[in-house]
Amino acid sequence: MIKQAIIPLAGLGTRLLPLTGVFAKELLPIHGKPGIEYILDECIEAGIKEVIFIISKKKEMIKKYFYNDKFYKKIIREKRDSRVIREYKKILKYKKIIKFVYQNKPLGTGDAVLKTKKLIKGKFFLMLLPDDLIIKKNCSKSMINIHNRYKSSVIASMNVKRKTVSRWGIFKLSNKLDKKNYLIKDVVEKPTIINAPSNKAVIGRYILPKNIFSKLSKQIPGKGGEIHITDAIQSLIYEGDKFVAHNFSGKYLDCGSMNGYIKSNLEIAKL
Ligand code: G1P
Repeated sequence: MIKQAIIPLAGLGTRLLPLTGVFAKELLPIHGKPGIEYILDECIEAGIKEVIFIISKKKEMIKKYFYNDKFYKKIIREKRDSRVIREYKKILKYKKIIKFVYQNKPLGTGDAVLKTKKLIKGKFFLMLLPDDLIIKKNCSKSMINIHNRYKSSVIASMNVKRKTVSRWGIFKLSNKLDKKNYLIKDVVEKPTIINAPSNKAVIGRYILPKNIFSKLSKQIPGKGGEIHITDAIQSLIYEGDKFVAHNFSGKYLDCGSMNGYIKSNLEIAKL
């Protein structure tokens, strides 16, 4: 059973400047609710019991958001506002399941994952990238079901426009397992259009095996000098590990870019 999830949150959020100049992008409201709460709700609904946040000193604000008890207690004592009480209870519910680790240098997603090594207990764990919101269907829940069915690692996948392949990790697929699931033959981080093996992109939901840590600890930096999770996954696939690409059914929203962020607000308002 998959009971732990990790969320890399140390990213600088430069694509959302100026909004992220002094503010953590994951706390920006999307239709009145911080983006990170959508991600937490997805985890909880998928049966996750512990969520590890990978933050940095610059992102301490995220920890403060969940550890603001004194302030809430004072307001509740003075005003007895039922809405504030409700919100505080929700935050307490989240706080109970969150643990924090630090990645103070932005060395890439792979490096962020490595910081959680000592805390991971099971053979597999879930990772969610907070820039990627998936609405209308719980993608993590579907992926856990697929993991249980195929006893494999799973990565969310979506067809993208060919001209945008250099923005994503891109899959080369082999056998079809069923209508929405394929075995992965290869995955390349942000290839050029010429080198891209397909237009099937990695979206930020992964069920990863614990043995990824030994790959990551030996891994040399890749594209842009960063340690990419994609490169570690590629090494495991080359060694014969089974990874399934799941063509998810929900709607993908890119909250990490300004246009995507604005669009996410509009889409969620329609729900
Ligand atoms: C990361 C991954 C990339 C994936 C993308 C999905 O890229 O490295 O493989 O396709 O998330 O959003 P980033 O958004 O950090 O550039």
